[in-house]
Amino acid sequence: MQRVIVKSRNLKKIYKMGTVEVPALGGVDVDIYEGEYVAIMGPSGSGKSTLLHLLALLDTPTSGTIIIGGTDVLDMPESEKSSFRLNRLGYIFQEYNVLPELTALENTYLPAMMQGKSKAECIELGREALDLVGMGARYDHLPSELSGGEQQRVSIARALINKPRILFADEPTANLDSRTSKTILNLFRKLNKELGLTIAMVTHETEDKSIVDRVINLKDGLLSEIYEEPKVSNCEYCGCKIYEEGAIVRVADGKTYQFCSDICADNYTRNRIGR
Ligand SMILES: Nc1ncnc2c1ncn2[C@@H]1O[C@H](COP(=O)(O)OP(=O)(O)OP(=O)(O)O)[C@@H](O)[C@H]1O
Ligand SMILES: [Mg+2]
Repeated sequence: MQRVIVKSRNLKKIYKMGTVEVPALGGVDVDIYEGEYVAIMGPSGSGKSTLLHLLALLDTPTSGTIIIGGTDVLDMPESEKSSFRLNRLGYIFQEYNVLPELTALENTYLPAMMQGKSKAECIELGREALDLVGMGARYDHLPSELSGGEQQRVSIARALINKPRILFADEPTANLDSRTSKTILNLFRKLNKELGLTIAMVTHETEDKSIVDRVINLKDGLLSEIYEEPKVSNCEYCGCKIYEEGAIVRVADGKTYQFCSDICADNYTRNRIGR
C-alpha cells in the first residue's frame, strides 16, 4: 500500500493586513503519497501558492496540522524546521533565484555547503546533480551565459543536491516558452520515476494534467473535486471569444455585459449613450 508522505488536516490560512483579514485557505485536507507526482491547480487567487508554501514549511498556517513522513512538523522548534527544510525538502520557484555572480556549479552546491560538506564533496555532488538535469556541459557558466530553461535546470539541480524526499515547485515553468516548459516537466517525470522523488507542483497550465499522476484542485481556498473547464463567451462589442472569468464586466439597464477589454466596454457604452 502506498504511504502518505505529506498530510494536512483542516489547514487554514488567514493573511492579516493591518486590520483587514484575507482568508486564503479555508480548511484543507490533503494526502500526498510517497513517489507521487501531483499538480496543484485552480484559478488565480484560489490559494495554490499558499497551500504549497504551508506544506513546504515556508510559511505557518493560522490553524491545522501538517505531517511529513510521520512527523508533526508544526510542532518542531524553528532550528529543527530549518534543518528539515535543508535536508529533506527541495524547492523550485517561478523565478530561478540563481545568484548572478556564481557559476552553475557553485549555485548548485550552495545547499551542500550549508550542510557543512567539504569543497571537494560539494564539487562532486554538484557535478552529479548538474549531470542529472542535462547540464553537464555548463558547469562553469554564469547565469547570464545561460538560457531561462538552463537557469531553471540549475535551480532544479540545486534543489536536488541534498537528495530531498520531496520536491515542491511553484509554477516552475511560468517564465519559459512552451517547448522548454515541456522539457522541464519531462525532467520532473524522469526524476520522479528514477529517484522515486515525490513532487508537488503548482501549475495553471491545464495541459499539465496529462503528465502528472493526480491533480489537487483548489477553488476559493478549498479543495474542489471537479475541475471546471473555464467558461467561454463572446465580447458584447466586437464579438471575439473570451474567458468569462477574466472578462471586463459592465452593467447597463440592469443587465450585465461582458467585454474582452476596456476599449470595447467603453465603445459599447459610448454607442449606447449616442443612440
Ligand atoms: N502575503 C499575503 N498577504 C495578504 N494576502 C495574501 C498574501 N498572499 C496571498 N494572499 C491572498 O490570498 C489568496 C490566495 O493567494 P495565492 O497566492 O495562494 O493564490 P494562487 O492560487 O497561488 O494564485 P496565482 O495563480 O495568481 O499565483 C489571494 O486572495 C491573495 O490575494
Ligand atoms: Mg501562486
